Amino acid sequence: MENDSTILSLRGLVKRYGEATALERVDLDVRRGEFLTFLGPSGSGKTTTLNLIAGFIEATEGSMLLDGEPLEKLQAHERNLGVVFQHYALFPHMTASGNVEFPLKQRKMSKSERTTAVQAALEMVRLGSYADRYPRQLSGGQQQRVALARAVVYRPPILLMDEPLGALDKKLREWLQLELRRIHRELGSTFIYVTHDQEEALVLSDRIAVFNEGRIEQIGSAHDLYDAPETLFVGRFIGESTVIKGTFADGRFTAAGRGLQVTGSIPSGRGAVLIRPENLAISGPDGTGLPDRAVNRIEGTIEDIVYLGPARKYNIATEHGTAIVRVPEREAAAARIGDRVMFGWAPDDAVLLADTETPVEAVSAT
Ligand SMILES: Nc1ncnc2c1ncn2[C@@H]1O[C@H](COP(=O)(O)OP(=O)(O)OP(=O)(O)O)[C@@H](O)[C@H]1O
Ligand SMILES: [Mg+2]
Repeated sequence: MENDSTILSLRGLVKRYGEATALERVDLDVRRGEFLTFLGPSGSGKTTTLNLIAGFIEATEGSMLLDGEPLEKLQAHERNLGVVFQHYALFPHMTASGNVEFPLKQRKMSKSERTTAVQAALEMVRLGSYADRYPRQLSGGQQQRVALARAVVYRPPILLMDEPLGALDKKLREWLQLELRRIHRELGSTFIYVTHDQEEALVLSDRIAVFNEGRIEQIGSAHDLYDAPETLFVGRFIGESTVIKGTFADGRFTAAGRGLQVTGSIPSGRGAVLIRPENLAISGPDGTGLPDRAVNRIEGTIEDIVYLGPARKYNIATEHGTAIVRVPEREAAAARIGDRVMFGWAPDDAVLLADTETPVEAVSAT
């Protein structure tokens, strides 16, 4: 429900282009001051939702409230929201400070106030000494920082960003992610950020809305999504996991003819157990050395071993598909590719999910 901490509410948003549906239905309450990220695969509706909020396109159905006021009545420029998009370029004929000053001139702020605000915004993005440079004299990362300063200089209540770091190299992106977190803390305003990069979402966000096929499948903290995914799609999209498909019936789970122990709230029908790599224990093929609580045990063959520094990751081929096991490096055994192994887990450590994915046969038939 909407309450005092809600700054923006989206209700039943649908967007169609002729026959094509870009947004099936989106309902969302954005909390005041949060860093909210839209995460999802290409074509899932992230940009469409952001464009609806910004006022660049109109919804086919549904409504939006900003601080309780209908947003649809306002033109994009009247919404007073900050926007930083990958393609939302700087004005090439204006210096960095000219670009940042532009929205303040539009708002008829006095010259002395403008000068102070522009300098503060450029300093916030650590470009205080670049005020007189033109965009062509700035690197891609510096240009995006000027764009950010321009978007926040008039203190919009919400800043909308669509893959603003998408065109930058990894090192620069990682640094700017930390900068964005700092700027978010300093401004205290609400950030809505779009990315298809789950690591970026985990680094930045207070909450993440996971988009799939024009809907939000789940919204929560990184922790919620990792530990308690509500759908198989979310479980697979966030982090790594081993997924074993089978059938839930009478409180039991059967996969490829064998029973596995499950606990908690047990679905019925086609479903899956999902286990995170750090919750699987690994041993030799006889299972000695697996902890007692790892009552579910499956055999397989090591397909690949990846060294991650503090941990080692094993990909294990099994009759249920590939399993992923991660063990701390100091506990790693001298296993090699091709070795037979056994891995196991405690029922408590598995997430139980309904299987809503399209069966492989149906996909290949189309
Ligand atoms: N103007 C348009 N006309 C027709 N279909 C559109 C239009 N704009 C978007 N779509 C469709 O709507 C769906 C959602 O697009 P959207 O741009 O929101 O995806 P996205 O989640 O931002 O993806 P990406 O990560 O690739 O940017 C896509 O299937 C897209 O093809
Ligand atoms: Mg997009």
